[in-house]
Amino acid sequence: MASAARLTSDPADAVAGLRAGWLAALPTETVYGLGADAADPAAVARVFAVKGRPADHPLIVHLASVDQLDQFARSPRGYARKLAETFWPGPLTLLLGRSSRVGDWITGGRETVGLRVPDHACTLTVLHDFGGGVAAPSANRFGRVSPTRAEHVVSELGDLLVAGDVVLDGGQSVVGLESTIVDCTLEMPAILRPGAVTSAAIAEVVGVLPQVGRLGVQAPGTLAAHYEPEARVRIVSEDEVAGFATGSTTRVGLLAMEQVDTPPGLIRLAAPADVEDFARSLYAAFREADALMATDVLVVPPRGEGLATAIRDRLRRAAAR
Ligand code: TXA
Ligand code: MG
Repeated sequence: MASAARLTSDPADAVAGLRAGWLAALPTETVYGLGADAADPAAVARVFAVKGRPADHPLIVHLASVDQLDQFARSPRGYARKLAETFWPGPLTLLLGRSSRVGDWITGGRETVGLRVPDHACTLTVLHDFGGGVAAPSANRFGRVSPTRAEHVVSELGDLLVAGDVVLDGGQSVVGLESTIVDCTLEMPAILRPGAVTSAAIAEVVGVLPQVGRLGVQAPGTLAAHYEPEARVRIVSEDEVAGFATGSTTRVGLLAMEQVDTPPGLIRLAAPADVEDFARSLYAAFREADALMATDVLVVPPRGEGLATAIRDRLRRAAAR
């Protein structure tokens, strides 16, 4: 799909765009974000408009380094600082009391702000050279599948972006699932959204196993139904796949680990070799299902803890319709 936005792989183009008040879609190790200068209410308002996102769903502010923590957060707790120092740059977002420079246009009036230093060389260059915070949600339409490649951003949002906006191509997102969100406002940390930084890894740093926060209450975007392709996502067991018979008029996709065979009639969307590969393939597989106009996607979820927990969380939401 054609777009007026500039597709580039030069971080300087994104910096220039952000400085001039335009949007810059940025690659990260988790998913692509749709960025705006966090200090520019008009630019941030366009992020909400382009995404079709309700104004009370706050944005994560992306920083170049942990050294900026105290510019954006007010007196972070000791354990929050430790988490930032341990996992940044990386797939971890911390919810903290906001500093005065974080406006209502970012937080929807909340007193907390989500902060993250992404682990992607191009985007770290952008953040470093830009100097300020970059507010960015995932670069997809509200409720839909997050993009893990620049082409996904262009096909999903391209016609809503204008000349001046930039899409920075940084290749495939290596994690492929959104960051772990940890509420650090209470005495003990609580995971609001599971991701690649696991509960066990957090426990090692903090000394206690984090609680599981009430999703959908504290993080309004973590709704029951989210991350949805057009095709209907159905969570199934390996045995159910083996016995699945497709009708002649339906196109049904399958996403399962490589050891699961594809029964005749099903379209294999991906055959990941391990859990990391599964996370990386998940959203591209959903997009592929839609491109093939599949009516349904059967998914055999990976077993185990850690990243597998995050994958099952996204699958449950994608299947919640
Ligand atoms: O990996 C990621 O986190 C990606 C990349 C681009 O960094 N970003 C991302 O942003 O997934 P988004 O907006 O799609 O998801 C962030 C979630 C939303 O559910 C939002 O409502 C919630 O975090 N959130 C952000 N700030 C919050 C705050 N101050 N209080 C409660 N929830 C917050
Ligand atoms: Mg999102």
